Amino acid sequence: MCGIVGYVGELACGEVLLDGLSRLEYRGYDSAGIAIWDGESIRRVRAEGKLFNLDRRFRENPIEGSIGIGHTRWATHGAPVERNAHPHRVDDVVLVHNGIIENHTALRQELEAEGRVFESDTDTEVLAHLVARERAAGHDLLHAVRRATGHVRGSWAVVVLDAHSPDELVAARHASPLVIGLGSGENFAASDVPAILRHTRRMIFLEDGDTVRLTRTAVEITAEDGSRVERTPKAITWDPVAAEKQGYKHFMLKEIHEQGDRIVDTLRGRILLDEDEVTLPSLATLEGIVPSLRRIVILACGTSWHAGLVGRYAIGGLARLPVEVELASEFRYRNPVMDGETLAIAISQSGETADTLAAIEEAKRLGARTMTICNVMESSMTRAVEATLYTHAGPEIGVASTKAYTTQLSALLLLALWLGQLRGTIPAAERQATIRSLRALPRQIEEMLGDEALIREVGREYMHARSMLFLGRGNEFPTALEGALKLKEISYIHAEGYAAGEMKHGPIALIDEELPVVVVAPRNRLLEKTMSNLEEVRARGGRVIAVGDRSVSELERHADHVLHVPSTTEWVQPILSVIPLQLFAYAIADLRGTDVDQPRNLAKSVTVE
Ligand code: F6R
Repeated sequence: MCGIVGYVGELACGEVLLDGLSRLEYRGYDSAGIAIWDGESIRRVRAEGKLFNLDRRFRENPIEGSIGIGHTRWATHGAPVERNAHPHRVDDVVLVHNGIIENHTALRQELEAEGRVFESDTDTEVLAHLVARERAAGHDLLHAVRRATGHVRGSWAVVVLDAHSPDELVAARHASPLVIGLGSGENFAASDVPAILRHTRRMIFLEDGDTVRLTRTAVEITAEDGSRVERTPKAITWDPVAAEKQGYKHFMLKEIHEQGDRIVDTLRGRILLDEDEVTLPSLATLEGIVPSLRRIVILACGTSWHAGLVGRYAIGGLARLPVEVELASEFRYRNPVMDGETLAIAISQSGETADTLAAIEEAKRLGARTMTICNVMESSMTRAVEATLYTHAGPEIGVASTKAYTTQLSALLLLALWLGQLRGTIPAAERQATIRSLRALPRQIEEMLGDEALIREVGREYMHARSMLFLGRGNEFPTALEGALKLKEISYIHAEGYAAGEMKHGPIALIDEELPVVVVAPRNRLLEKTMSNLEEVRARGGRVIAVGDRSVSELERHADHVLHVPSTTEWVQPILSVIPLQLFAYAIADLRGTDVDQPRNLAKSVTVE
């Protein structure tokens, strides 16, 4: 969603801000703007649409200066037009904001009654007026921001610049991430690490309630209670190159290709080679409760929810624990039953998804024990829970999740094995076979990626379809859901995932020669059943794209196309089965010429409800 960059130093600020914003483009946005102190006044340039519009305007009328703020906006309140783009200016104050001001209507009425005039439809402008009002009352910028945020409810990461104190930026955080980058003779603020990573690797991740004063040479943090605090900087170890396309046409394609390596990173150090055992030191605080656990509730959204659905089969099968998988947006409002013998697991790539955060907080409030499977260090999710099992997918830039999903599946399987070990529910042979097949994944993934060109040709045949149906059974039912989601979000072709066994109960009515049906049919114990569904589709004239093992001759006979997936053990198979579907969706979207990495209306990190 929205992105923030702030800079104070000696460099040409416009370049730092535009470069930083370009590194946040993947989050999704629909307008952008920057504001810079030019030595006499704060000048602002904003533009609808993609960053190149802003960049062009800036080049036409460059602003020289070395302190400023920038923003990419993903519209929530008010259309994505220039007058709603950030930075917002009120009197001498300019401000950028991520998050939502929930009580903006009441505040706006109050401010209008005082004679203040609004220029935009946004909730953010309320905050700019509040800061300007506090400045007019004589408060310095830091206190003005603290007092202003004291009036609002909701979530915010803000960075403020004021023409009356043009040597400083003030930033504040509440329920929306904000990181401070420490330089020498320069300092940075950003909503996300990649925006400033080329300038510094020393970062302070702010806590909720923090307000910060940034000058060229100082960073002063004030905690919620008004006391000055020191926060220890963290060194960011990942390489900025990891966030570049490295010759691939799209980030999504690069990220599909990286999956073998990222799975290795996720498994590294967590499998004891000699004993074929799993060790998860980061979950040590939860170890004691495992024997008395009575159930697991997984909370997530979108692709992460699909990962949870796959995890349900593995945890149920290996650790013999009942698992519920809930859409976080539903869970948070349904007064769920929780207790201290329930482990709530939030799954989230970004660690900032508003619904998942609220759901895990609700589970905690109701007495459940909590953990997260998360990809982003120091994200809000990891702070909200007792323990974190990190996926090591590295930065995922493509909006459509790929490597985050397969690393989530790998982490969930490690978790299932660990729980099963502690509970004594896994036969040694099954544990060994599962671990061995996890280790074999990179080689198998490499082999599958060799089929990319073939899959593209199949995609070409179906690129004009108006709709597609995806079917799967057992732990491949979530694969069907995920395949459908990938296709619809990047190609804009309607697609639906269904449990193959449910087809007869409704969707079969849709089947004709116009509706391609993707059947996920790897070699597993449900293959025969899945084959029956495949034949039911064929019998009604449907065209079938099967995802399965080419050595199953029936597949070749009955399907129009087979996207090859090698065979492996039951719990590992979904990690492989999804890969041809990622490539299939990618090929169709690319052939249709959509914006693959930033599909319309979507944001990478959904920080609003
Ligand atoms: C789809 C996709 C989304 C996310 C969802 C949750 O490709 O990426 O459905 O999975 O928005 O995001 P996280 O995992 O960051 O909580």
